[in-house]
Amino acid sequence: MKIAVIIGSPRGMKGNTGRLLEEVLAGLDKDVKTELIDLSKRKVLPCIGCDHCHKTGVCPLKDDYEAIKKSLLECDGFILASPNYIFSVTAQLKALFDRSGNILHCLLLEGKYGAVVETSGGGEDDEVMRYMERFINSTGAQSVGGVGSPMAGERTFPDEAILFNQARDLGRDLCRSIEEKKDFPAQADYRTTFKARMKRLVEYRKGECPAEHQYWREHLLG
Ligand SMILES: Cc1cc2nc3c(=O)[nH]c(=O)nc-3n(C[C@H](O)[C@H](O)[C@H](O)COP(=O)(O)O)c2cc1C
Repeated sequence: MKIAVIIGSPRGMKGNTGRLLEEVLAGLDKDVKTELIDLSKRKVLPCIGCDHCHKTGVCPLKDDYEAIKKSLLECDGFILASPNYIFSVTAQLKALFDRSGNILHCLLLEGKYGAVVETSGGGEDDEVMRYMERFINSTGAQSVGGVGSPMAGERTFPDEAILFNQARDLGRDLCRSIEEKKDFPAQADYRTTFKARMKRLVEYRKGECPAEHQYWREHLLG
């Protein structure tokens, strides 16, 4: 089982989000192959809106995006971790989301499972976690849930024993969901509606975006 672990904090694994993420990783099965994708050490430029990825399936910007996309395509599950930066994810993780247009248009992560990890100075944890889970569902994947908390101090949290138990449970849930191909019916409406919207969009733009249209014809229609 392969799990891609993406952390968007500019402080990498050394910050509060990294500390909570460590507990999620401790809950994974021992034989899981994890790949840590620390965005503070990778280069993911902001999307320039050129549409090239929709036309060809590949982003022309020269950085680490295509390698990260390959890791996502090859994993069974993935974890998204970010601090709350002004009611949202960090710019580093948002850049990765924005660059993922081709993944969303073609639901390239269908069949996979995601989990989210978040920390904040003092609030909006649910808002940021829901946003990351929405991204997961918009890639075609299902979300197994998330863990989030305000900090109490540097790399410490209130009610830490309870929080860390939740974090380890999340790691275990991610592995079980992958193993059992679990279904999350509460996410079905959003995923079905989003997929129908992408189908209309790709059909409407088939002249301009032949790569995405061909992908739909070969993998998603029928
Ligand atoms: C630029 C910036 C914006 C932030 N915005 C918020 C915010 O809107 N709400 C909040 O509760 N905390 C906010 N924080 C605090 C961080 O979310 C919090 O310290 C987090 O645990 C940092 O995680 P890290 O150590 O993994 O980087 C912000 C911190 C920074 C540096």
